[in-house]
Amino acid sequence: MERTAKIIDGKLVSQAVKDKVREDVLSLGEKGISVCLAVIIVGDNPASRTYVNNKKKACKAAGIISREYALDENTTQQELLELIDRLNKDSEVNGILCQLPLPQGLDEKAVIASISPEKDVDAFHAVNAGHIMIGDYSFLPCTPAGITEMLDYYGIEVASKNCTVIGRSNIVGKPMAMLLLKRNGTVTICHSATKNLADYTSRADILIAAVGKPNFVTADMVKDGAVVIDVGINRNSEGKLCGDVDFDAVSKKASYITPVPGGVGPMTIATLLKNTVTAAKLQNNL
Ligand code: GUN
Repeated sequence: MERTAKIIDGKLVSQAVKDKVREDVLSLGEKGISVCLAVIIVGDNPASRTYVNNKKKACKAAGIISREYALDENTTQQELLELIDRLNKDSEVNGILCQLPLPQGLDEKAVIASISPEKDVDAFHAVNAGHIMIGDYSFLPCTPAGITEMLDYYGIEVASKNCTVIGRSNIVGKPMAMLLLKRNGTVTICHSATKNLADYTSRADILIAAVGKPNFVTADMVKDGAVVIDVGINRNSEGKLCGDVDFDAVSKKASYITPVPGGVGPMTIATLLKNTVTAAKLQNNL
């Protein structure tokens, strides 16, 4: 059946989240509490630079102070860990974010482990990942929580639905599966070693693509009327920004779909702001 999917508008939903964050920041300000995020970027990866600029801009609009630490790509592991140690101890800093990926030679796992779990607004630290695993957490995993926020906004129920996640990263795939499970979805995680991928995707009522390959999800892989969430941020052969989903064809089959840009991306940043306010509240015993 040919249809036209409803567009899930990430800009609209993220604005609602950001408005609430701004209100929270203002009311903390009335109590004499400022909210501050430290953002670390190492090297000059252009995509990372764009993400960091967007995060700083969003902080400013929400009334959150952002401090940027832009380090040279030849920064040593020790220098980076020393900076994080200083920020962990700095009572004016509520949240610490180290933009990934890091240049070769730096140990991402050790860097994530060095951030104080109370300031880990990405929710990447094993302590916070563990909290997400047991379904009891303060810091939301940014991209997955942004996605559930969009589903809620459009009244899309997860309970008892077949949910298929393509991708098993610690940043998106694994925590996404946990959040869907918490909402009583029946969850399948597919990855690069999955055989007959279409068997799983075509059964999905909710399909989440976090692969990193343009046009990876084609219309024949999607169930009629499915909700399709595209986490990919890729460049196609013409250099244009695109997701993992063949948007034009899949939007004729899905009931709801997220565009790229303007879908999941803005939601990730909105959740980051929300986590930074949560950190400030918890550090002030609120
Ligand atoms: N690189 C890609 N996504 C993210 C993210 O959400 N946080 C950080 N710190 N780095 C990333």
